[in-house]
Amino acid sequence: QEARPLEGRRVLVTSGPTHEPIDPVRYLANRSSGRQGHAIAEAAARAGAVVTLVSGPVTLPDPAGVAVVRVETAREMLTAVEAALPADIAIFAAAVADWRPESEATTKKIKKDGSGPAPLALAENPDILATIAHRSEGRPGLVVGFAAETDSVIDHARAKIARKGCDLIVANDVSAEGAVMGGADNTVHLIGRDGAVESWPKAAKDEVARRLVARFGEMVAGS
Ligand code: C5P
Repeated sequence: QEARPLEGRRVLVTSGPTHEPIDPVRYLANRSSGRQGHAIAEAAARAGAVVTLVSGPVTLPDPAGVAVVRVETAREMLTAVEAALPADIAIFAAAVADWRPESEATTKKIKKDGSGPAPLALAENPDILATIAHRSEGRPGLVVGFAAETDSVIDHARAKIARKGCDLIVANDVSAEGAVMGGADNTVHLIGRDGAVESWPKAAKDEVARRLVARFGEMVAGS
């Protein structure tokens, strides 16, 4: 019999990259596989939670026992997240593109016309985590952000937790040496609002997900 510390809790998870269209055949994206976010959604469901997973484009199967909403862009992800609330716990594991092409050439492919590359003007995407964490009404009781960094992982995460308004940051090093992006393992550091850091040993993303879910259960216990 598995422990079900999230029995009856509503959990929202974002996962995967976003794709930001340039024209009908091209997009801006990043190397996120969605493995850690999907593993968290599955672990939360096994822990008894009612889970909605809002996922960008990934090649992973839908986790068992989870309602999956598939989106493409950051703006679609924000809309889907708002539609999925309220939730007791919201975990923002998606690698959302910070910028999108300002004007999408929706119907026609951009052509080489001999005058060199077309300029690509960018607009800023909404920050989904900050938007939800700063809500005055309907804010989930526990809001968790992720921080993927290639250097000064903990310093950047401390700055991020204040800026984004979340309760906890799960930080990891995604520099090439760690092979976290797309890989099966992850080494995470938990950073709290008070700046305290807890570094966990490297483990499989499924195992990291189980431990994170157990921790989130402790953090909302009694609320
Ligand atoms: O600022 P940075 O992208 O490093 O922050 C990462 C955290 O913020 C992650 O939890 C990510 O899911 C979230 N985020 C978001 N919307 C964005 C950018 C990041 O929800 N536009």
